[in-house]
Amino acid sequence: MPFDLRRIRAQFPSLRVTDDGRRRLYLDNPGGTQIAQPAMDRMTAYLLRNNANHGGAFRTSVDSDSVLREAHAAMADLLNAASPDEIIFGPNMTTLTFSISRALGRWLKPGDEIVVTRLDHDADITPWTMMAEDRGAVVRWVDIRADDCTLDMADFESQIGDRTKIVACGYASNAVGTINDVKAVVDMAHAAGALVFVDAVQYVPHGPADVQALGCDFLACSAYKFFGPHTGIVYGKYDLLDRLAAYKVRPAENKPPHKFETGTQNHEGMAGTLGAVEYLAWIGETFGDKPQTPNLKLQRRELLRKAMRLMMDYEREISRRLITGLSQVPGLKVWGVTDLNRLDRRVPTVSFTLEGWSPREAAEKLAEQNIFVWDGNYYALAIMERLDLQKSGGMVRVGAAHYNTLDEIDELVEAVGRLKK
Ligand SMILES: Cc1ncc(COP(=O)(O)O)c(C=O)c1O
Repeated sequence: MPFDLRRIRAQFPSLRVTDDGRRRLYLDNPGGTQIAQPAMDRMTAYLLRNNANHGGAFRTSVDSDSVLREAHAAMADLLNAASPDEIIFGPNMTTLTFSISRALGRWLKPGDEIVVTRLDHDADITPWTMMAEDRGAVVRWVDIRADDCTLDMADFESQIGDRTKIVACGYASNAVGTINDVKAVVDMAHAAGALVFVDAVQYVPHGPADVQALGCDFLACSAYKFFGPHTGIVYGKYDLLDRLAAYKVRPAENKPPHKFETGTQNHEGMAGTLGAVEYLAWIGETFGDKPQTPNLKLQRRELLRKAMRLMMDYEREISRRLITGLSQVPGLKVWGVTDLNRLDRRVPTVSFTLEGWSPREAAEKLAEQNIFVWDGNYYALAIMERLDLQKSGGMVRVGAAHYNTLDEIDELVEAVGRLKK
């Protein structure tokens, strides 16, 4: 066990909430995680002491701007961005992606090509296909390998060519948990002169994301998936953000990141995101070795990397337990990577279908026992259609996070095993 789960769980007050004495078993994490105490503390402190609009001369506005700068710096540390000015906050990943796709669309001409994948959440598909329609661009689709729900990398290579301008690719699938080889995608796309937009919403809560090591041009995530509040974040290379024209009002600043942060932002959400990053750094500090770097500015990055590696180690154990247990249930099929030697290719989001049960019926039955799992397509429409599961209600998704215990996993597996008609 890489960390003391009791201390981890003590950081999440909602894990102690019961319904008439019945525990809640949160396995709905890919839809949104529980929020860490430091994130809540930052939000309340912001609303109590700093609540003001941006750019004023007076105390609360000056303090508010300083918290917002800290939030940008924290996200730059989490994603290992070169500068906090490469971090854009917004309402959520979907809205930000629509905004960036439209801004990028102004660089496209008819006949240019955009590549999307069938493994992605629709938030990394439709913003691109709609923009393509506006600009007369062509959309090319990358297929998956149906046996293990990984991207077909040979197909990926064949879809990228001289006309490719943008490649949109997920880091980890919200439907079946597959982790994609994003570095290979970036290298292929850049060799063709295309830009890469990475949807890391489902990766950031589970592993160390490093935009400089990946070399990606944009990377999106959502704080409510990594123990913070409902806020979205996009990283973009500074030079690109500087050159792109933002859809913004005239009086607003015209420099990154502010030119993309239109209107008044969710300040308390940004403060809460800062708290979520502080929570992750606390994991690195509490359960990891001492930082090697003497550079104070880089220490938090090191702590965050450590925290995410510790989390990954533990979550692989969760995946192993989940896949092993669920696979033994008669009539149950686990979708995605099930090879226990390839657990590095997945996050602990394990989806299944069960003979004789619609996903909704199974989720309802588990809900009766206060076990929270998702059913349906969870907006990963393309893969459900590709696997021909959309008509039958998609899959049941069991999505674990680092605060789930192995006992909880066993409890879920037993409850699924008891599902009988
Ligand atoms: C992989 C993935 N991408 C994008 C999104 C959309 O994120 P948001 O709710 O922040 O718009 C989600 C949400 O579930 C997701 O799982």
